[in-house]
Parts: sequence; structure tokens; C-alpha cells
Amino acid sequence: MRELFLTGATGRLGRTVRTQLESSWIIHPCSLSGGDDLTTAEPRDVVPEDTDFVLNCAAMSSRAGCASNPSAAFRLNSLWPQKLAAFCAGTHTRMVHISTDLVYSGGIPPYTEKSPAVPRSVYGWTKLLGDVAVLNRNPRACVVRTSVLTGKAGAKMTTFSEDIFSGRASSFHVDCFRNHTDIAGLARFLSKCLFSSMSGLVLAAAPYSMSRASYAYTLLKKDINLINGPSHIPHDLTLRPSVKIVKE
Ligand SMILES: NC(=O)c1ccc[n+]([C@@H]2O[C@H](COP(=O)([O-])OP(=O)(O)OC[C@H]3O[C@@H](n4cnc5c(N)ncnc54)[C@H](OP(=O)(O)O)[C@@H]3O)[C@@H](O)[C@H]2O)c1
Repeated sequence: MRELFLTGATGRLGRTVRTQLESSWIIHPCSLSGGDDLTTAEPRDVVPEDTDFVLNCAAMSSRAGCASNPSAAFRLNSLWPQKLAAFCAGTHTRMVHISTDLVYSGGIPPYTEKSPAVPRSVYGWTKLLGDVAVLNRNPRACVVRTSVLTGKAGAKMTTFSEDIFSGRASSFHVDCFRNHTDIAGLARFLSKCLFSSMSGLVLAAAPYSMSRASYAYTLLKKDINLINGPSHIPHDLTLRPSVKIVKE
């Protein structure tokens, strides 16, 4: 059986990947609550010896959390992926790392793999540094950049669609265009990606972008409360992904 070291295993994406793969792969889950703090850990101490594949889903994923603790965000989102990439290059272990559309400014959409990335948040900057470091240390690795995740994840942090259905999100930005991406579809792609020789930066997301309000309306099919997105949030992060993730 294939052995996967999965960081962020308790998070939204990690949980979804785990649910899909645990019957056919041996998964070595890694998370902060499971006792591994990757802001200080060394890969040689946490990656099990028989690991064939590494999927790095661990992240400080909240914009507000990164802004209030930039040092921890830098250590988890930038330094840890760099160390892991160097380790995987040295041990010839296949590595896939996850990134975000928030590395882009929102000023010149649509974004492709060739677009320049100029983040507008600490989160975006720490993720961009991580992406660059991974490919620098391990050019055979794959950095999968995606957009806002939707669908049922059942993790501590919720997806946008979970927020919509639970009523936690009740006002929706008329702008803030993003490629709302089905989390289960992305997890399916990641299992194929791990098993492929795909390398470099890959945009994998829903084929089309929508405003937050349009997306909420497609789910709720009723009148919704509209607001303008705040100026510090990119208003149009439309991606033209080379890997189109669709909901099955
Ligand atoms: N969610 C989105 O809409 C979205 C959109 C685009 C890209 N992404 C990217 O997708 C990836 C997965 O994001 P996600 O939404 O699944 O994240 P998440 O739900 O916030 O989960 C984060 C995971 O990282 C772990 N973690 C946090 N701090 C840690 C530390 N110091 N040491 C070890 N593990 C730590 C958490 O463990 P505990 O649960 O134990 O704290 C959890 O398993 C990230 O790279 C993110 O940037 C997410």
C-alpha cells in the first residue's frame, strides 16, 4: 500500500483527502492538535521512514490569524514548506504542496500560472514565499494553487458553503470574484497529482469565477443581503485554471 505523510490532516482539505484515501492508502496524519508543531519541527523528526508521498495541507489559513501573528505564519506557511521540500528532494519523496489565489493582488485578472503574484496580505505573502521556496528547493515538487474551498469538510474551520448553509455568513460581497472550488473534487485531483509526475506551479480550481453574492444565491435561491467587499480584500481573483475542478 502507498504511504502518505499528510500535514494539516485535521483541516478542511486534509480531512477531505483523508476520508477519500484512507481505505486504499496508509496515511500518516500530522496536525498541531495531534502533537506536531510544524513551526518548530524538522522534517526528519516527523516524516515516517517508509513515506512514499507527502501532501502539505498544513497552513495558518486565516488572514486575520496571519496578520496578528506574522512570525508564526512565516514559520508555518513559508519556512516549513521550504524545509519539507528540501527533505523530499534529498529522500526522492514525491511532494505536493497547496497554495492559494490570495497570492494575487486582484488587479489584473484572469490569473494563470504565468501571472505575477503580488499579495495584499500577510497570509498571501507567507504563502507565496512558501511556494517559491518549495519549487526552488525541489523542482520536481508540485505546487497546487486553488481558490476558496466549498463543500462539506466537517473540520474546526468551516468552508464558505458550510457558513452559508449554517447562517454564519449572512451578508455577501457583491464583488470578490473567486473560483469557488469543490473540496471533494480538489481532493480527488490531489490523489491523482500525487501519483503523477506533474511538477511546478499548477492552478487547480473551479473553471469559472463568481462573486461571493452570486455563489451564495446559487446555493440559497432566495434574497440575500448584499454588501461591498472591504478595500483591503482583492475584488477580482478570477483564475483561468489549467486543471478544472468540477463537482461530481
Ligand atoms: N480554506 C480555503 O478556502 C482555502 C483556499 C485556498 C487555499 N487554501 C489552502 O489549502 C490548504 C489547506 O487549507 P485548509 O483550509 O484545509 O486549512 P485549515 O482548515 O485551516 O487547517 C489547517 C491545518 O493545519 C494544521 N496546523 C495549523 N497550525 C499548525 C502547526 N503550527 N503545526 C502543525 N499543523 C498545524 C491544523 O492542525 P489543527 O487542526 O490541529 O490545529 C489543521 O490540520 C492551505 O495551504 C491553504 O492555504 C485553502
